[in-house]
Amino acid sequence: MKEIVVSGIRPTGKLHLGNYFGAFKNFLTLQEQFDSYFFIADYHSLTTHPTPGDLRGSVRRVIAEYIALGLDPEKCTVYLQSDLPETAELYLILNMNAYLGELERVTSFKEKARTQPNNINAGLLTYPVLMAADILIHRGAKVPVGKDQEQHLEMARTFGNRFNRLYEVDLFPEPMAFSMGESLVKVPGLTGGGKMSKSAGEADTIYLDESPETLKKKIMKAVSDSGEASTDGIKSQAVQNLFDLMGLVCKPDVISFFNEEHAQGRIRYGDLKKQLAEDMETFVAPLRDAITYTLANDKKLDEIAAYGAEKARKSAKKTMDIVRDTIGFKQISRD
Ligand code: ADP
Ligand code: TRP
Repeated sequence: MKEIVVSGIRPTGKLHLGNYFGAFKNFLTLQEQFDSYFFIADYHSLTTHPTPGDLRGSVRRVIAEYIALGLDPEKCTVYLQSDLPETAELYLILNMNAYLGELERVTSFKEKARTQPNNINAGLLTYPVLMAADILIHRGAKVPVGKDQEQHLEMARTFGNRFNRLYEVDLFPEPMAFSMGESLVKVPGLTGGGKMSKSAGEADTIYLDESPETLKKKIMKAVSDSGEASTDGIKSQAVQNLFDLMGLVCKPDVISFFNEEHAQGRIRYGDLKKQLAEDMETFVAPLRDAITYTLANDKKLDEIAAYGAEKARKSAKKTMDIVRDTIGFKQISRD
């Protein structure tokens, strides 16, 4: 049997380069080869944005971006997490065998608890359980995500295996983080810190529909070495970040040139950024056009979501019937 692919993105902002290279690029390849489910994680967004101003608008935007960037609703299943009540039901059941200690140790929980001390809600704590339910509801095995999601995938394996063991069934496969290249991707931000993210702020992030002017401005302002270029050949974090970004869009000879300049201690970061901005614009331009076009012609987006929900529920129902039967609950009608 072919492996099942599942992945989701939270509707907490416009898609950016990190989403594209970390996750989306793999969606495009996988939809051609596997039974694939790509959803919008709208429940998950409540863990950090409990009262989203315009949730419907944000969700439609991600659907539009999914379609504009090349997902084909006939080749894969595109749906909203909240259109699948079966996910919530599986989440509830998995929660019974998820332990406080292991949930408290999850890095993303600790990080969020630090950044939103006034809202350390139970949804945040059980975020990995809901994510496991998202994947296991389709018995997903391949999960295209960026490097930051590795630990969540490990938890999904733990919860799936635990269920199998506890109820002596062989229901859930072991979901693995997946990237078409050998390693999972982490796209850095522009301000010298960690990963590019929707929540990291404007200056850090390049959106896929960034205007040419803003794109250039953001890159020219990106943090590089302050003062003299280092002569020891070792790149600072901020400089490494710039080289990582070049790796995504620049030709190998351009990268070699700047590497050599850096090694010789004569690199001019203004030149590097100018080149990066140019190559980034070449990459972003067609994506920007496609997103702008799809958003303006969005009559079909609701239809796409409804069609996807129907397909996704077929798969989810099958799993929940087995889960209920395994535990000993009565079957319920799901029509
Ligand atoms: P964000 O982190 O911007 O809020 P999400 O958490 O919704 O975005 O992430 C959606 C997908 O994009 C996930 O698979 C995640 O691993 C990937 N992703 C997000 N940011 C990056 C990044 N900077 N580098 C690589 N992958 C990323
Ligand atoms: N946690 C993921 C992120 O922040 C989003 C997500 C939710 C997800 N459920 C998922 C990704 C299931 C893959 C599979 O990026």
